[in-house]
Amino acid sequence: MKIWLIGAYGIVSTTAMVGMKAIEKGISSKIGLVSELPQFKDLNKYVPLKAEFGGHEIRLQFKNAYEAALDNWKQNRHFDYYYLEATKDELENIVAKKGTALNCGRGVKELGDITVLENDGLTLREIADRLIEDIKEFADDETVVINVASTEPPVPYNPEYHSTIEGFERMLDENKLEYCSASMLYAYAAIKLGLPYANFTPSTGSSIPALKELAIRNRVPHAGNDGKTGETLVKTTLAPMFTYRNLRILGWMSYNILGDLDGKVLACEENKKSKVISKDKVLEKLMGYSPYTITDINFFPSLVDNKIAFDFIHFEGFLGTRMKFYFVWDGIDAIVAAPLIIDLARFLLLAKKKQKYGVIKELGFFFKSPMESDNVNTHKQFEELIKWYNTLI
Ligand SMILES: NC(=O)c1ccc[n+]([C@@H]2O[C@H](COP(=O)([O-])OP(=O)(O)OC[C@H]3O[C@@H](n4cnc5c(N)ncnc54)[C@H](O)[C@@H]3O)[C@@H](O)[C@H]2O)c1
Repeated sequence: MKIWLIGAYGIVSTTAMVGMKAIEKGISSKIGLVSELPQFKDLNKYVPLKAEFGGHEIRLQFKNAYEAALDNWKQNRHFDYYYLEATKDELENIVAKKGTALNCGRGVKELGDITVLENDGLTLREIADRLIEDIKEFADDETVVINVASTEPPVPYNPEYHSTIEGFERMLDENKLEYCSASMLYAYAAIKLGLPYANFTPSTGSSIPALKELAIRNRVPHAGNDGKTGETLVKTTLAPMFTYRNLRILGWMSYNILGDLDGKVLACEENKKSKVISKDKVLEKLMGYSPYTITDINFFPSLVDNKIAFDFIHFEGFLGTRMKFYFVWDGIDAIVAAPLIIDLARFLLLAKKKQKYGVIKELGFFFKSPMESDNVNTHKQFEELIKWYNTLI
């Protein structure tokens, strides 16, 4: 298997690379990988647990993935340094190609020494062609593309260019820069090449009808949006308990703080909007009614990749009595996210091998805002994933 990562030098990407290479060398356990659970034991026959990596990036001050991984590690020290040293040679061979930061918002532009401007002096068609060429050079029949780049601001839906693939192609030809974003171009490039695609971010990616149509035409499986790894994972696992016991949630406050690059980008209001919408929608879908919610994310530099969520739930029980529940999630973001990148690549490749295409709703288990599915209950999503897998094997 080969994995092309959009945002290849970010902390989730480099942690996935270190983890994969450490597993290949037999020096790390497989804990954290859903695809290694006993329920999926035959997956190895179809998609062995090993991968080569490539990707697009906009911070090209790093010579290779090792330099980026080292930089991420120095700031976060999120795993034992031994793993980084042991995988150094492999990571030094992973060199990202220059991506595009088109309409990625002020949060991304402020990352610092990025080398790409809005459109890098190219037309939309030229950017798309360049991305396609980069991926084509690397890809084979067993390649999956995953977007783990920084979160873009929402792109207003434009039916003229987003509803059909003809419209989308016209948008590229007419160079309508303002209606397009980097994540759309990456998703377009992957699907055009017939490569399975997952959107681990809340950015638009393949979620517009035009790209869904292209995926059906090219028989490409895809999934998204926004990895479910921390507070939302706990929320969508816990909230069903209130339903099962007929307890009424009156209000749910979720307050997240994190440092790191992701936190810095999300500290920018326009970039944050996509994330808050993605996190906030789940309760309504779960409960069938809309409790009062407060959802916020703020930058807290000294925490680096340690994300802390404070949740307060006010709920009502028998005889109208009101009670309270509080929890704190204290997670290391990249450690919970990185294995899911490998899981998604394996399940999407399995889907391709079994001629499944279009949105793979059964992979909703991995996402905060599963495409084309209202099932956000983690328990039910897990059952759905196992059932789907069993029909393929
Ligand atoms: N638990 C988690 O970590 C988690 C969960 C769900 C979603 N996500 C999402 O995954 C993404 C990555 O998270 P991270 O912690 O690795 O962030 P990060 O900031 O460490 O990495 C993002 C990388 O993407 C690069 N980038 C930004 N815009 C790009 C573009 N247009 N093209 C190519 N590269 C681009 C950045 O330079 C950076 O190297 C974020 O969007 C985050 O919201 C993370």
